[in-house]
Amino acid sequence: MNTLEESIRDNAIYSKDSYKETDVASFLSDFKITKKYAGQLSRVFEVEKTNWLVKEAKWDVKFEPFKPGLTIPSKIAAFLDNLLGQLAFSFLPKKKEILRQYELYLLFSQYFGFFDSDKRYYHPDREVISLAQVSIRDTLLNYRVQLEEFYNIKLDDKINLLHEDKDIRYHNFLPKEYLLAGKSISKQNKGRVTSFIFQEFVKGDLLHDVDEMVVSKDQKLRLVLMMYLLLLMNMQTGVVPDTRPRYNFFQAYNWLTKTDNVIISKNDVKFIDTRWFYDTKNFSYLILPSVIPKLAIRKAKTSINKILKTI
Ligand SMILES: Nc1ncnc2c1ncn2[C@@H]1O[C@H](COP(=O)(O)OP(=O)(O)O)[C@@H](O)[C@H]1O
Ligand SMILES: [Mg+2]
Repeated sequence: MNTLEESIRDNAIYSKDSYKETDVASFLSDFKITKKYAGQLSRVFEVEKTNWLVKEAKWDVKFEPFKPGLTIPSKIAAFLDNLLGQLAFSFLPKKKEILRQYELYLLFSQYFGFFDSDKRYYHPDREVISLAQVSIRDTLLNYRVQLEEFYNIKLDDKINLLHEDKDIRYHNFLPKEYLLAGKSISKQNKGRVTSFIFQEFVKGDLLHDVDEMVVSKDQKLRLVLMMYLLLLMNMQTGVVPDTRPRYNFFQAYNWLTKTDNVIISKNDVKFIDTRWFYDTKNFSYLILPSVIPKLAIRKAKTSINKILKTI
């Protein structure tokens, strides 16, 4: 472990009860930081000569509802702008929200992660998290009937393939990461306290840019597993990860397969955007956050069988 990771590890937040703020800029001072991607909720910087990215949560959240160049009537545009403005407000990195989201992340990691060694992932409670992960993956198909009833679907029998191969069943969808809080490092946030996710760089293509129907059989199975886990987690906990598409409304019916939040390569699928989850059991007063998880669920329901049929 290098010194940067040691500093990150020592200053990370590991539960909603252990909030602390850190001078992130100071331990990054020995490194060159370059802005790499402009996400919708975070600014993503590369820590040069390391394998780490640092994602600073934005206080200036703004959503891009349409593909650039698309003209829409101004009344509708104003209406959507207002809705998206409200939605953006709920994404701001307030302390309470940072901790609430981290708690949801820990739940999400039980489903989507597979942390079988300290090398793969560090958390003081990793072993406990790992037990939960193994149990979820080993009993996946026990929930098939309940899941089919809950969502009113009939899964293709090839779904049983998820259990057969351990490399698929125990696939880890999560990169190693740490959550920190402290004064922002970007100009745009003007020194406000925000959250930072230090995350390992993941090689590959954004799922948005890949046709999920033409990848290898194993990769199709991993995508099917990802969708199955999404449905299972929603059924059991009401929590849905953020699989927003690049263009929120234009691709509303692809609220999963057109996302920039999943990276796929030859043998790997990783869920890289781990900052935001919808807690559908604790709805806010806003309309949009309650519609969005339904879009992801609907897409998962139809995509699972569509992909399974081509295996
Ligand atoms: N671990 C990673 N490895 C490689 N690219 C990444 C990684 N994390 C983020 N990115 C790139 O940065 C973009 C924005 O990051 P993301 O975590 O999705 O932030 P936001 O919450 O703002 O959408 C991603 O869509 C992806 O292109
Ligand atoms: Mg994203």
